[in-house]
Amino acid sequence: MSVSGAGARPEAGVSSLRWEERPEGPVLVLLDQTRLPLEEVELVCTDVPALVEAIRTLAVRGAPLLGLAGAYGVALAAARGFDVEEAAGMLERSRPTAVNLGHGVRLAVQAYRAGLRADGDGARAAAAALEAARTLHREDAGASARMARRGAELLDELLPGGGGLRILTHCNTGALVSGGEGTALAVVMEVHRAGRLRRLWVDETRPLLQGARLTAYEAARHGMPYSLLTDNAAGSLFSAGEVDAVLIGADRIAADGSTANKIGSYPLAVLAKYHKVPFVVVAPMTTVDPETPDGASIEVEQRAGHEVTDAPSLPGAGGGFAVAPPGTQAYNPAFDVTPPELITAIVTEEGVVSPVTRDALGELRTRSRSG
Ligand code: MRU
Repeated sequence: MSVSGAGARPEAGVSSLRWEERPEGPVLVLLDQTRLPLEEVELVCTDVPALVEAIRTLAVRGAPLLGLAGAYGVALAAARGFDVEEAAGMLERSRPTAVNLGHGVRLAVQAYRAGLRADGDGARAAAAALEAARTLHREDAGASARMARRGAELLDELLPGGGGLRILTHCNTGALVSGGEGTALAVVMEVHRAGRLRRLWVDETRPLLQGARLTAYEAARHGMPYSLLTDNAAGSLFSAGEVDAVLIGADRIAADGSTANKIGSYPLAVLAKYHKVPFVVVAPMTTVDPETPDGASIEVEQRAGHEVTDAPSLPGAGGGFAVAPPGTQAYNPAFDVTPPELITAIVTEEGVVSPVTRDALGELRTRSRSG
C-alpha cells in the first residue's frame, strides 16, 4: 500500500474509490477517510491484505462502498494473480455487519468463476470480475439517484406545506460511501437543491466521529446550512421542537425490517417516536438481507476499546491520548439495531415501504426482482 496526497480532491463531489490501470499493474485507489477532513490523502492498494486493512481501519467504510470495495478487491486479486477464493474469504471476514460487503465479493467471485468455466482463461475471468465490480458501481450510483428522488418525495408527503425542513442525520451516508451521492445524505442533497433544507443537524457520531469529520465535510462542500451536535444533545433538540425528520442509512436490513446502523441510531428512533417525528431509513436493495430473519440475528461488530477510552486521533491535530484511567474496560459496538415498529419508512431505489413489515419488504423484493 502506498500513500499520496495529490489529486484526491475532484472539483465536484468526492471520489471515494476508483480502479486504475498502472504500468506495474492495476490498483485500487481509496480516499483515506481516516484522514478527513484535515487531509485529503489517497491510499493505493496493490493487494487484498492492504485493502482488508483499509476496511478494518475504516479508511474505506459505509455499507454501499464496502460492497464496491469487496467486488473490486476480488477483481484486484484476480488481475494480480492472487488466490481469488482466499482473497474473497479475507474480504468477507474483514467486517461482519454491512451485508453489502459479502454481496459485492460474491458477485465478483461468481463472475470470475463463470469466466473460468467458460474458457479456463485466467485473464478473461479477471476481466469478468472487474466488469462485475464496474456494473455494481454504476448500479449503486443509479440507485443513489433514485433513492434521493423517492426520499424527497416522501418528505413532501409526510411534511407538506412547502416550508424549510430541519433534518437530523447520524454517521455518514453521502458520496463518501457510494458510487453516487449516497443514501440518506443523497436525499438531503435533493432537498437542498430544491431549496427546502432549512438546517441539517449533524450528529458527531462518537466514537469515530463520522458525522463531525465526514458528513460535516460533505455538507460544507455543498454549501448546506448545517450544525454539528454531540450525540447526547439530540434529545434537547427534539424537545425544543427543532427536528422535522430523521434520515439515516443502514448496514443491514433484516427480513422483518429491523435495521442495523451506526451505534446511536436506535436512541434517535426512540426519541423520534416519542416526539412524533418521522424516522426514515434510506438504503439500496443490496442492503436488504432476506437471509437474516430479524434484528436479533444481525451480527453487530464489536470494536476495540481504545476507540472509546482514547480521544480520536486526527492527523496533524493530536488526539489518540487516553481520556479514561488506565485499564478501563469499554463497551464499543459499532452498530445498533432499530426494530421496524420505530421506523416510519424504508426508502429504497425500488420503492418505499411504510409501514415497515416483513410482508411489505418481501413484496418489494419480489417486485424489484421481477421488474
Ligand atoms: O462503521 P461505518 O462508518 O462503516 O458505519 C457506517 C454506517 O453506519 C452508515 O450509516 C451505513 O453504512 C449506511 S451508509 C449509506
